[in-house]
Amino acid sequence: MRELKAFINNEFINNGEWLEIINPTTLLPAGKVTALKAEDINKAYSAARNAQKDWEKLALLERISILKKFRDAILKHQDEIAKIMSEEIAKNLKDSLAEVLRTVEIIDYTFEEAKRMDPLAMTGEGMGAKNKLGIFERVAKGVILAISPFNYPFNLALAKIIPALVMGNTVVFKPATAGSLTGAYMAKLAIEADFPKGIFNVVTGRGREVGDIITSNPEIDMISFTGSVGIGNQIRAKGSSTDLVLELGGKDPALVLDDRDLEKYASEIVTGAFGYSGQRCTAIKRVFVNDQIADKLVPIIKKHVEKLSVGTPEQNAFITPVIDEKSSDFIQGLIDDAKQKGAKILFGDKREKNLMWPTLVDYVTPDMKLAWEEPFGPVLPILRVNSIEEMIKLANKSNFGLQASVFCQDISTAINVAKQIETGTVNINSKSQRGPDCFPFLGIKDSGEGVQGIRESLISMTRYKGIVINY
Ligand code: NAP
Ligand code: G3H
Repeated sequence: MRELKAFINNEFINNGEWLEIINPTTLLPAGKVTALKAEDINKAYSAARNAQKDWEKLALLERISILKKFRDAILKHQDEIAKIMSEEIAKNLKDSLAEVLRTVEIIDYTFEEAKRMDPLAMTGEGMGAKNKLGIFERVAKGVILAISPFNYPFNLALAKIIPALVMGNTVVFKPATAGSLTGAYMAKLAIEADFPKGIFNVVTGRGREVGDIITSNPEIDMISFTGSVGIGNQIRAKGSSTDLVLELGGKDPALVLDDRDLEKYASEIVTGAFGYSGQRCTAIKRVFVNDQIADKLVPIIKKHVEKLSVGTPEQNAFITPVIDEKSSDFIQGLIDDAKQKGAKILFGDKREKNLMWPTLVDYVTPDMKLAWEEPFGPVLPILRVNSIEEMIKLANKSNFGLQASVFCQDISTAINVAKQIETGTVNINSKSQRGPDCFPFLGIKDSGEGVQGIRESLISMTRYKGIVINY
């Protein structure tokens, strides 16, 4: 069993209290991490604050050369990281490794993009600007609190930590409890990379116990949070003056507007809906299609769903156990509610504890919870809707606004519909997805605030500092 300690000011902290991390596949302990107390958490912020000015004083290339050692340590330990991740969140081994390598690619791109954060030099002809030369550099905000969710414990954490550090901020990082072993392992990489003391601190503990302490420290200059709408809104409601980037949940719709490439549409919909057992913010979580096309599309979707392997992460099964039994009870509740109200189960609706078979539900109607709530599990509702206007109306009626997909070969119609859908991004003829990681990634309405993505994170984690020369 792994024991990984919290990491503050380059010291591993064990105050005697541990938090057990459960392997979702065996439902046995996968390891334990330190359960921090308020006093230690406050020390993490003092360490981050004390280290920040000296870290920022280093030239960008000096910071990159230190962070590059961290990146190299990831590659050296890639298999071990993937294994830990797979054990604690039941992501299959192949996808866990892909997550590690995707992260390295993001880090490399971040280094390059950071070199292009050129200062703005301005003068002007009016407004008294004629005899002034202004230079506006992007400088660090200070201390950044990074909070990550369980489903991408490596990637979504480092997609915050690396841009923060590269631009001269220091970081306090709170991993999700399921994901803490992966998060705490990063401390080992930081030591291998000779990180200066205090620039990177890992605070572990259960969110509902230490969340308020972690998010209300006066040293925080910015919070970058990814997780559920509920916790995101709690952070938002505190109304502090801390800058916020929130990436929250989704109920991404797929609108199928023609039948000109149904094999491709079905394949995108199925991988989009069921990848990592549906535990992706960007998973396709409802399909709108008219009756006539549905009669041809749904059997193809069903054929793909039937082929999805169900099993353990070690077997590289496509569908693996969801994160815990509470989660599978919730997903089952949505399926049961739809069944009771007349929906038709075409496949699945079978479970062994938290291992849930991929479930395809047809004839879902707007009075069913499954039409509106985010299951975060392997279930796909089909809503038969006979006009494009009605599809757009229902797509927009949601309180979520992360992404959407429009399947249509007529590009004018597709763009027209895409423009009317109220989400951060609309994907034409592909599943919804965060990547390419160099693109902006954002949710509107309850799905978020601010923007992620490589360049956008470098921007959101810095502010302008202007110096104006008068001559
Ligand atoms: P979650 O329950 O909201 O947890 C997210 C993070 O917040 C975890 O680190 C959690 O720690 C922490 N937390 C819990 N209570 C807190 C509090 N009171 N104050 C501060 N932090 C607190 O979400 P999750 O279950 O890990 O992830 C699934 C959700 O995230 C889904 O809704 C999904 O759509 C969303 N998500 C969104 C995106 C996006 O980019 N839009 C990406 C991935 C996931 P503990 O684990 O210790 O409770
Ligand atoms: O869970 C939310 C992630 O941001 C989704 O990323 O679309 O690459 O799976 P993904």
